[in-house]
Amino acid sequence: MKSNLKLSINQDIIDTYEGDVPKHIGVIMDGNGRWAQERGMIRIRGHHEGAKTVRTVVESCRYLGCEALTLYAFSAQNWGRPEDEVKGLMSLFDLYIKKERKTILDNGIQLRVIGDRSKLGPKLISAIEGLEEISKDNSDMILQVAVSYGGREEIIRAAKIIAEKATRNEIDTDQIDEHMLASAMYSPDLPDPELIVRTSGEFRVSNFLTWQSAYSEFFVSDLYWPDFDEEEFVKALKSFGDRQRRFGKTGEQISKEDSSK
Ligand code: IPE
Ligand code: IPE
Ligand code: MG
Repeated sequence: MKSNLKLSINQDIIDTYEGDVPKHIGVIMDGNGRWAQERGMIRIRGHHEGAKTVRTVVESCRYLGCEALTLYAFSAQNWGRPEDEVKGLMSLFDLYIKKERKTILDNGIQLRVIGDRSKLGPKLISAIEGLEEISKDNSDMILQVAVSYGGREEIIRAAKIIAEKATRNEIDTDQIDEHMLASAMYSPDLPDPELIVRTSGEFRVSNFLTWQSAYSEFFVSDLYWPDFDEEEFVKALKSFGDRQRRFGKTGEQISKEDSSK
């Protein structure tokens, strides 16, 4: 029920979207560093500013009724950034968990963090686990935050899970199929993202949801992540709504299928 929500977004702008709402949206939140540098600020200021956009997008998705939102916050490769930036980002995640707790719990959102969390500090791990535990029965929307995450790393992890089962003779290699691989990913219960948004004008996937994005629609916004807002989000949705998703079939086949629904 929308009326029970406690949101700070501009709902009138979101209401201008009348098309199908994707069940799962993925977002590659890019451009924080450039946003700050162009203003003569240090990069971490851009990351802090970007955290405000996170709230806007989380609330917009909740308002729309999306089942899941996956936000790419820190890649497996981002560990290679200068130490002070990595440290600043880790403190920001800690702050985010504390500051957003209320918004998450007030709006029936379940938090999941995906990625190699063994690389995170013990304080951050326990903050994440605390909020995951307390929000685990919330079912209105799943907010997945990808931290220390890589799509290839996720596939390697899945391969290991399956190989271990084969070693224990629990499965036969003939049984390995798409379904089994999908089941070994971090969140097998979620549908694949229909729409993936990337900000800052970069046309690449940078190791995000490699397995799950096989048929995702992409939208690239020229705005840096801190400048992304409700209006730009609606642009992404409208662009998605105008497309025909064909999954390898012909346009005619899809039109026929749609008209018989
Ligand atoms: C995205 O912003 C956030 C992370 C990757 C952590 P960037 O920090 O990549 O910003 P740019 O791309 O350098 O501007
Ligand atoms: C992708 O952004 C990772 C996140 C948004 C967390 P990057 O800035 O790390 O990607 P590249 O290096 O431009 O491909
Ligand atoms: Mg970047």
